[in-house]
Amino acid sequence: MRSLYTNSVDFGRLESHPPKIKRIHHVAYRCKDAKETVEFYQDVLNMDFQLAIAEDKVPSTKEPDPYMHVFLDAGMGNVLAFFELPNSPPISKDPATPDWVQHIAFEVEFPEDLLEVKYRAENYGLDVLGPINHTIFKSIYFFDPNGHRVEIAVNTRRNGDLERLNAVAWDMLEEWSQTKKAPRAAAWLHEKEFS
Ligand SMILES: [Fe+2]
Repeated sequence: MRSLYTNSVDFGRLESHPPKIKRIHHVAYRCKDAKETVEFYQDVLNMDFQLAIAEDKVPSTKEPDPYMHVFLDAGMGNVLAFFELPNSPPISKDPATPDWVQHIAFEVEFPEDLLEVKYRAENYGLDVLGPINHTIFKSIYFFDPNGHRVEIAVNTRRNGDLERLNAVAWDMLEEWSQTKKAPRAAAWLHEKEFS
């Protein structure tokens, strides 16, 4: 097994591989308003509202900080969660990171689903980018009411595409690591989008 960390961490005393992650249990983001957020994800992305957890202090750190924690069903056991924190300053973004970078992508089954979600997001008053052609998938992008960038993707890959990409992944990473210039081995992914 190749590892990036074998030089810096002593794994000698570990006898077996680390446990395999089953899936994402939940991801948690901050929201401005829990009710508005739940309604948005319900109306635009058809996610079911699963449960709410609310406390006056934080279970992990025991800090007093009233919060509302809401959990939405993002399909196949994936859970999208949000915290509303009335006592914290308004949400601000990392000013050094471009807006397009940090995002969460959800998969839909059919290409027409992209257009349906685009229509619903626009109907909500949002600007929607795309569909953008990444060859192995197509995506639309918008910002949710909290300013989080959301991507909706539909897989459009052909047989062999993933194997072709996987075969060059380590070489691309190594080349990038040394040159900080984009390797061209997977440039075919965006040939259509950039032409
Ligand atoms: Fe993405």
